[in-house]
This record gives sequence, structure tokens and C-alpha cells, in this order.
Amino acid sequence: MTGFSAHWLDMRETADQRSRNPKLQRTLAKHFDGWRPLTVVDLGCGTGSNLRAMAPLLGPEQHWTLVDRDQALLAAAAQRLTSWADVADWNGSQLALFKGANRLNVGFRCAELAADLDAALGPNANLVTASALFDLASAAFIADLAHAVAARRSAFYTVLTYDGDQRWTPEHQADAAMLEGFHSHQRRDKGLGRAAGPDAPDALSEAFCGEGYSVSEADSAWRLGPGDGPLIAELQLSFAEAVAETGLVDASTIATWRAITRTSAIVGHADTLALPPGYED
Ligand SMILES: C[S@@+](CC[C@H](N)C(=O)[O-])C[C@H]1O[C@@H](n2cnc3c(N)ncnc32)[C@H](O)[C@@H]1O
Repeated sequence: MTGFSAHWLDMRETADQRSRNPKLQRTLAKHFDGWRPLTVVDLGCGTGSNLRAMAPLLGPEQHWTLVDRDQALLAAAAQRLTSWADVADWNGSQLALFKGANRLNVGFRCAELAADLDAALGPNANLVTASALFDLASAAFIADLAHAVAARRSAFYTVLTYDGDQRWTPEHQADAAMLEGFHSHQRRDKGLGRAAGPDAPDALSEAFCGEGYSVSEADSAWRLGPGDGPLIAELQLSFAEAVAETGLVDASTIATWRAITRTSAIVGHADTLALPPGYED
């Protein structure tokens, strides 16, 4: 399980948007207040959910580069952004978007981050961002990324990094074993080295502190309730499939666990904002 479907990313977008930490969003907006134009690179952009959440926080003239290794997701991003904008114009390689008072130019780069991080980052973004990406990456990749971001003196903001906390209601006796299996699966190499999984928020803080950045980390857990039934069911299914791949929990336990109707769930995430030395707010 290394690919992500546009369907899954669509399903999670509403929960993602409402779970982003508001205090870090305000700090980010304050940091970039008055910057015009602003250049942003979004790593592992999927269908563009991170841009849709962040654009209202940033200035009136934004230049985005959306990076993903999955060409189909980049195509879906262009499509969804066209629908999201008030006005959209595709010139063959870039989207020019108007949304509210903001004008955005959006370019798309199909790139494997492991192969050429420098090309993915480009030369001079003011802000490097990502959403739901770094639990897929190794601590070594995160350290390399922090180094490359620091070399550009870019700000860094990443959201919804899984932090290992899971609480299901009602509880079930297999929850702990399933969580252990899930974390074992999470630590597998997804293309960026042995993944940090639930340790990714710590690895991000450590790496950017090591580069002299001012780092803030804050809670962005999904708190899913009765209105999130389809997402909770989809989560149960994807966790169950991941655990089944590890062989750590027997098939009948997984099947029973997957079939329970949960009324709520908490899935822990963290957001991280790292500002370069000399720019502390
Ligand atoms: C969990 S999805 C998050 C997508 C999007 N940021 C969002 O929040 O909806 C992770 C994304 O990172 C991309 N990705 C994962 N590993 C990658 C790599 N090594 N190089 C480039 N993209 C990668 C995937 O294709 C996927 O779109």
C-alpha cells in the first residue's frame, strides 16, 4: 500500500481542513503578511488540498509549484483547483486562478522526492509546505530536506503528520494489537527510506532545530464523530488492510476488528512550522 487514490484524498479533505492547528495558521499568516509575490512549493500535493486550505492565509499574489510523483493525482489537482477557483485559466502548463481577492499561478511538477529533492524544491521558494507526507519519510530524508530548505532560507510548514495516537469508540480488545501492527506497517519503506511513521513529528522538530530554525509544533488530531461515518469506516478498512500485510495479527481478529461500528475516533496528528533564523515572529 504505497499509492493514494484521489477518492481517499477527497474523503479526508474536510476532516483535514477542520483539524489544522489554528494557532500555527495564524502565525504563518502573520509571518507572510505583506509578502507579495509569495512563492510556495507543496511536496506530495496529491489533489491540491493543502493549497486550498492555505491560499486564504497568504497574500494576494501567490506562485505555487505542486509536486507529486503520481501524474494522475497532479491531473486531479488541476481539475479540482479549476472547480475551486472563482476563475481559472489553463495555458497548457500552468493554471492562473482567481480566488476571492487572491491571484494564484500554479505549476505542476511530477517528481520522485527520493531521486531529486533539489529539483523538486526548485531554487528559491519563500515557503516549502506539505500535508500528510512526512510519516511516509525516514528521519534521514527529513534531515536532508531540512538541510535543503535551510540552504534556501525558506520557511517550512507541514500539517497533519501522524503522531501515533489512535482512540476508537467503542473500544475493542484488539485495538492495541492492531495499533502495533499498523505502526509496524507504517515504518516500512514507502520510497523515502524506512519511514519514521509516528516518530515523524519529532524527527521534523529535531531536523529543523538542528538547522537553527525556530520550530513550533501543535496538535491537529482528527476528532471524528457521528457525522464522519464514511471516513471512519474507510479508515478501519485501510488500517485493517495495512495490518493484514504485516501478518502480525491473525485474519479473523482483523476481520472482527474491521466490522465493528465505531461512533467516534481520534487519530493524532501534529502540524509543524519552522521559521529561518532572523525571521522569528
Ligand atoms: C497522504 S497523501 C497526501 C496528499 C496531499 N498532500 C493531501 O494532504 O491531501 C501523500 C502524497 O505524497 C505523494 N508522495 C508520497 N511519496 C512521494 C515521493 N517519494 N515523491 C513524491 N511524492 C510522493 C503521494 O503520491 C501522495 O499524493
